Amino acid sequence: MKETVSVKNIGLRGVTVADTKISFIDGNQGILIYRGYRIEELAERSSFIETAFLLLNGYLPSKREFEEFDALVKVGRELPEFIYDCLRKLPNNADPMDVLQGLVPLLGIADPDLLGENREANVRMATRLIARIPAAMAAWHRIRHNQDPVPPDDSLSHAANFLWQMTGQPPDEDTANDLDCCLVLHADHTFNASTFACREVCSTRAHMYAAVAAGVGALSGSLHGGANARVMGMLMELEHVADVPKWIKDRVNSGERIMGMGHAVYKTMDPRAKYLKPMATRLGKQKGLEKWDDLSKLVEETAVSEFESRGKTEIKPNVDFYSAPVYHMMGIPRDLFTPIFAISRISGWCSHIIEEKFGEAQSKPMLYRPQAEYVGNYCGLVGCEYEPPDKRIAEAL
Ligand SMILES: CC(C)(COP(=O)(O)OP(=O)(O)OC[C@H]1O[C@@H](n2cnc3c(N)ncnc32)[C@H](O)[C@@H]1OP(=O)(O)O)[C@@H](O)C(=O)NCCC(=O)NCCS
Repeated sequence: MKETVSVKNIGLRGVTVADTKISFIDGNQGILIYRGYRIEELAERSSFIETAFLLLNGYLPSKREFEEFDALVKVGRELPEFIYDCLRKLPNNADPMDVLQGLVPLLGIADPDLLGENREANVRMATRLIARIPAAMAAWHRIRHNQDPVPPDDSLSHAANFLWQMTGQPPDEDTANDLDCCLVLHADHTFNASTFACREVCSTRAHMYAAVAAGVGALSGSLHGGANARVMGMLMELEHVADVPKWIKDRVNSGERIMGMGHAVYKTMDPRAKYLKPMATRLGKQKGLEKWDDLSKLVEETAVSEFESRGKTEIKPNVDFYSAPVYHMMGIPRDLFTPIFAISRISGWCSHIIEEKFGEAQSKPMLYRPQAEYVGNYCGLVGCEYEPPDKRIAEAL
């Protein structure tokens, strides 16, 4: 007889729904590992493109494999002409995450491997998505400001090319390296909401682009990737507030959430936030923008001590907290913070989609199909009697 689990767990906290070989989190110790490697090691020594290869293939590439993969990403950056036409027709105030969610299936239309069923075809689609999402977001940023898109520069790294295509200015090396490091840190995070959305959609045997579009939608929410832009909104508001600790206390007292704080899995500081915090301090000093670093630290200290005074000792900064001042000090517009998360996480999403599609971490692929307990109107198994409209009594829900 098949084993069934009949435990209701709202939010699925602590429920293991699958095996994965892609990444691992130790929430108590604050450790994140991709394919066996600690993220700190990859952030220090690898690059985003190399990390993307690692996530997709399960091992670090040889020199030749890296060069081939990097060249394929570079070729993939060219967007089909109809994508620019679509972008030019959108209202300038469209949110970049909404634009991205709409654009992903359109990019799929232009992918010759769209219906490819083998692993190789799916890796080629993943490579094109890794190449095209940053190109498309940079193009949208320029088009919404009535500027022409800038062609890619193949002499630049992935992060540097994004900054180039976004601004039309060659980026300084330090900024490009810091952004590349941020992309490494955001590349994967086990079964977070957007990755689970991707895996759930592809478990129906929908194609990779359909699954990724679902992931983009999930990432946009304020409790997930959308938090980084909201952290910056909070810091910008606090810039003009005389008593920051009081503002934080009032907010916590009124039951509102402090963006960039807390995590469903980490019970200590998120290792990515630990890495980004000194980066914010360094950038503040280098760019003469210490005020953002000082303000972030003040918010962290005040919020953590407020939470602790309420017995919530596990709420600490997450990845979105310090990535916000970091991106701001790099000169990136606030509404591109979450798209940058997507520019990185696309590597993790595609790796998980491939793992799910081909049952690479379990005996065979399975369609996700949880149950819900019905708590609605019920007239027994015979069902309620249908009344014609003129006999119904109006009932407010
Ligand atoms: C991410 C998040 C949803 C994880 O939450 P969780 O720990 O799994 O569980 P819950 O949402 O049920 O929160 C548990 C308690 O902590 C409180 N809490 C969690 N994060 C909080 C925050 N950032 N600010 C204020 N209170 C918070 C909740 O209000 C809840 O309190 P209650 O038990 O009195 O109702 C949550 O921390 C949050 O909303 N953070 C802000 C958004 C954010 O930064 N998201 C990015 C995540 S990487």
